[in-house]
Amino acid sequence: RDLVQESELRSNDLVLPIFLNSLSSGRKEIKSMPGVFQWSVEDSLSFVSEQRKNGIKSFILFGIVDASEKDGEGSAAWDESGPVAKALSIYRKELGDVNLIADSCFCEYTDHGHCGPMDSKSQSRHQKQTLDGLKKMALIYAQAGANVIAPSGMVDGMVRAIRDGLQENAPSGISICSYSVKYASAFYGPFREAAENAPTFGDRRQYQMNPANRREALREALLDIQEGADMLLVKPAMPCLDVLREVVNSTQVPVGAYQVSGEYAMMKAAAQNGWLNEEAVFFESLLAIKRAGASFIISYWAPEAAKLLRSSHG
Ligand code: PBG
Repeated sequence: RDLVQESELRSNDLVLPIFLNSLSSGRKEIKSMPGVFQWSVEDSLSFVSEQRKNGIKSFILFGIVDASEKDGEGSAAWDESGPVAKALSIYRKELGDVNLIADSCFCEYTDHGHCGPMDSKSQSRHQKQTLDGLKKMALIYAQAGANVIAPSGMVDGMVRAIRDGLQENAPSGISICSYSVKYASAFYGPFREAAENAPTFGDRRQYQMNPANRREALREALLDIQEGADMLLVKPAMPCLDVLREVVNSTQVPVGAYQVSGEYAMMKAAAQNGWLNEEAVFFESLLAIKRAGASFIISYWAPEAAKLLRSSHG
């Protein structure tokens, strides 16, 4: 059985999301994601370096700011002293050789919770302003220490805009990992508690994809590659394994999958009730995502997975 096993999970495959708030110290548990915390930048460092020692080399950072710092544009997103920029520069200095992926979106920073400034007349997202903001945000993150920029707002033209923005003043060798295939999914529920970014009106269907569509996913992926994406993401993971496989087969770039908050929450909750075996279901789910073709997996369960992988390799 071992000799002929086709896919394998490695700690190198894992990306751990880190939620960073603007508090001066401490951490706060996210109720709907047991075991996952919002961290102050200061206290996050020891957690991240502990996870580095645990075998995780890649981290994706999300920032959460106080309601008083949010505005219609989401301008806190390009504040050099915001939680993500601050954490990036500290981690880069203290941890050196790690992949620091900056999730780049506006929903955590706008007062209406949408993934970009809204046009008040049409109640739809303002394309040009969103792209202009993204350029500024990506540059700040790259200068602070991110080596991967991951735009997650599903804005047409986002990859090209970031590429252009980085050309000017960023260090070289920054990759763009585009959330090309992002469905309007009910599985993001707990994330909205974690990131405090639920939209105050409407929903994200005007820019996130219809879960009924498969061919559209391929179109989104190919467009992002044309714009210069180095890596792609499919999100959520388990409900979209068919799409993941097709995107992998139709492209030549690494494709990652995001095992999202709702996937984590449902397996964790069932495990806490004694209905499922936590290690077995999470491991099987991660392996299934690998089998579907993922080059890497963003998962809140990465710390446990890394620990298990270490013990199984003696
Ligand atoms: C928004 C964003 C979302 C997630 C990450 N970035 C989804 C959303 O609120 O639309 C979801 C991740 C998760 O559920 O774990 N830019």
